[in-house]
Amino acid sequence: MTTHDLLRVTADDAELAVDVRGGSGAGSILFIHGFPFDRSLWRHQLAALSPSPSHWRRIAPDLRGAGASSAPARGYSMARYAADVVRVLDVLNVRQAVMCGLSMGGYIVFELLRRHPERVRAAVLCNTKAEADTADAKRGRDEMAALAEREGAAAVADRLLPRLLAPATFAAQPEVVAQVRAMIMGTPVPGLVGALLAMRDRPDSTAMLGAIHLPVLVVAGGDDPIAPPEGMLAMARAIAGAQFVQIPAAAHLTPLEQPLATSRALSDFLADLG
Ligand code: MLT
Repeated sequence: MTTHDLLRVTADDAELAVDVRGGSGAGSILFIHGFPFDRSLWRHQLAALSPSPSHWRRIAPDLRGAGASSAPARGYSMARYAADVVRVLDVLNVRQAVMCGLSMGGYIVFELLRRHPERVRAAVLCNTKAEADTADAKRGRDEMAALAEREGAAAVADRLLPRLLAPATFAAQPEVVAQVRAMIMGTPVPGLVGALLAMRDRPDSTAMLGAIHLPVLVVAGGDDPIAPPEGMLAMARAIAGAQFVQIPAAAHLTPLEQPLATSRALSDFLADLG
């Protein structure tokens, strides 16, 4: 992906890099990446969403502290990330968008539903969960934040990579492995630490699932150990009318590991909305 067409959006104390593609005849879809990645997680879906890619405007920001966005020293929270997303929509004059989030991006979609429901036309929840961190998981966040500060992004990449990708991806798609490592290595330490503490402190969203009355697509990776498909199916069942798709031979990063199947699921969902 080139950087020449990036929009720069000032959001409070951060400058966000935003990739904007396509026309908006049918509407806009905003892609929110997970931790510790960047907008290129969605590179295949940004490039083409069949069958009518030009009819959906695709918007993919780098969150504050990630990719080509700036990385303020502090102030990260799900509320702040959600406010940044709303700021991007405001700058683009988009009243409502389909919000598509992966993992931490899904936590941000929940925050948008909680704080800015009028901006959400529909939701796509990929490889994510509604539960807050357990006490153990919170301790794990603190440990990883300390590791990032002590040893930098390479140590975080070594720790995370084995659980992010499916065995089939490691075996047959070395370029995906390389891209994921590069995304992690490109995340500045304040962005790593800020996201970890924001995830540690995020609210539980399970109670709101039954109150969601929007079109929702839930996308699971069949081999995802971080957001296992059984949990995602249970989440989908708790949301009235939600669609559930399980993508085989993918772990936590379905849009990169299985781009065709992921894009097809998204296109079908969008076609029903359009
Ligand atoms: C992500 O991909 O955003 C993370 O795995 C989320 C998490 O660690 O909870």
